[in-house]
Amino acid sequence: MSFEFLTDLEYAEAFHRFGNIRKAIAELVQSATEGNASLVLDVPAGHGYLSAEFAQLFPSSQILALGLRNDVESHIALRKSDSYPQDVWTHVDYLACDAMKIPFSNGVIDLVINFLGLEDIKMTRGAEGVKLALSEMARVLDAKGLLQISLVEYGEFPEERLARAVWNATGLNPVFETREWYHQVLEALGMRLLLEEQFIYPKKMTAAQAKEELKFACDVAPSLFSEFGVSARSFESLWTEFGGRIKEHGMAYWSRIRVMLFEHEA
Ligand SMILES: C[S@@+](CC[C@H](N)C(=O)[O-])C[C@H]1O[C@@H](n2cnc3c(N)ncnc32)[C@H](O)[C@@H]1O
Repeated sequence: MSFEFLTDLEYAEAFHRFGNIRKAIAELVQSATEGNASLVLDVPAGHGYLSAEFAQLFPSSQILALGLRNDVESHIALRKSDSYPQDVWTHVDYLACDAMKIPFSNGVIDLVINFLGLEDIKMTRGAEGVKLALSEMARVLDAKGLLQISLVEYGEFPEERLARAVWNATGLNPVFETREWYHQVLEALGMRLLLEEQFIYPKKMTAAQAKEELKFACDVAPSLFSEFGVSARSFESLWTEFGGRIKEHGMAYWSRIRVMLFEHEA
């Protein structure tokens, strides 16, 4: 495996397109469920890209995208854009609330889905908040339902080691736990691992792109999430420590997405 630099156009669209991995996740889950899921809950949904992919493959399902109040604006912008056919949105609703307290009774959701975001919940609510969010996802899931999560892993290529070190050094805490951590937490909640798959996105950012990404993380994220007391290291000190190595190697984007699918233990 070797990493290719994102062009500036690819970088601008990288989060939205993400190598079509959201679609691949929806296809994986579609074959596991045979498309049968009346109520699908996307946690945390952010803009709602994953919800849109599932809405296309699960045309008879009602999709509930769950996100924070300050995600609603970007969701509305996505709905108004031409990124997806308009009829996709007729069966997607947005629910503004915290993933730590999902406002549904036990067992009413057929399918819980997730693309990234467990690291954001860690940033806003800490590792205990992630555990609570996972327990809420399991609680609202029907006894025969499926729970799908995704997490980012980095390998040992220089651009991946660098990405891991840089994100760990931002002070924001927007980092994933290990695969085993999620497995153990969900097992303790009575969930059994049904299948897992890793999707590779072997792209890396140039120094200028990484600068933009890290400036946003250090300068904007703390004010965006100020109600959660989120703080970050200054961009300047982060760049002083890592800028030289990023110029030399580039910095991996989110390179390995592990998707895990769970069901309730019988
Ligand atoms: C990486 S995005 C989710 C990406 C999305 N699933 C997609 O397909 O593009 C993570 C989102 O989690 C939100 N978030 C952070 N803490 C949260 C919390 N405690 N509850 C719900 N959402 C949260 C952030 O506002 C952010 O928009």
